[in-house]
Amino acid sequence: MAYYNALNDPEANTPNNSRRLRVFCIVSTILNLWCIWLAITQWHLHEGMNVPHVYSPAEHVITNKFVKFTRGFAHDIPIYERPPSAIVDAAWFDLWSVAQIKIPKSAAMKMPNHTWPLLNDRESYMISLDVFHQLHCLDTLRKQLYPRYSETHVSDMHIRHCIGAIRQALMCAADVSPVVWQWSERLQIAEQRDDIVHVCRDYDRIRDWASERTFEYEENDFGIYIEDDLPVSPI
Ligand SMILES: *[C@@H]1O[C@H](CO)[C@@H](O)[C@H](O)[C@H]1NC(C)=O
Repeated sequence: MAYYNALNDPEANTPNNSRRLRVFCIVSTILNLWCIWLAITQWHLHEGMNVPHVYSPAEHVITNKFVKFTRGFAHDIPIYERPPSAIVDAAWFDLWSVAQIKIPKSAAMKMPNHTWPLLNDRESYMISLDVFHQLHCLDTLRKQLYPRYSETHVSDMHIRHCIGAIRQALMCAADVSPVVWQWSERLQIAEQRDDIVHVCRDYDRIRDWASERTFEYEENDFGIYIEDDLPVSPI
């Protein structure tokens, strides 16, 4: 048969043909590597599109910005870390006082968890944002540092709850900004420095969003049962 002749062709194994085979092998190896590279990069792209997501009615106000952290030592003590006073308390209160937020039913339906409607406005539902809850908890712990200043007694159970809330928030965010060591002329040691630049969510924007949506907590009677007809969305 005609094509078997090629195998018997005395010219079939000439140096010319083995060079062609070598070129073919090299080209095919390059193409294979390119395919593997494409598969890996596309897979990463695909993975990026599937990041776990839980809906938040505030997700559209999230923006990032650079923030240099303060140390709370010497001349670098922001209002929040100063000794207790009415001004310091007010500054803390200002951070989380917008915690009671109302959202429309359409937003509440996109959340994975049920929440409660407002008694006098059944088309609005109440939420907080966990950052306000966490800051409130930290504020509670702060006040416990000064039992003589703060008149409210907080139970051990509440303190435990707050430590747990803050621990989980820290681990959840898992801030990997590099903390460094630098020589301190004053201390004559290399000391840890955490007054470094972080990338942070713009807290003011989130607080502003919340402040435009607060409801009067006292106007609600939380002891009145309301039948739950809110359809929620699975995660
Ligand atoms: C919120 O939803 C998640 C996921 O379905 C569930 O595991 C969790 O128990 C719910 N929590 C509340 C308070 O409804």
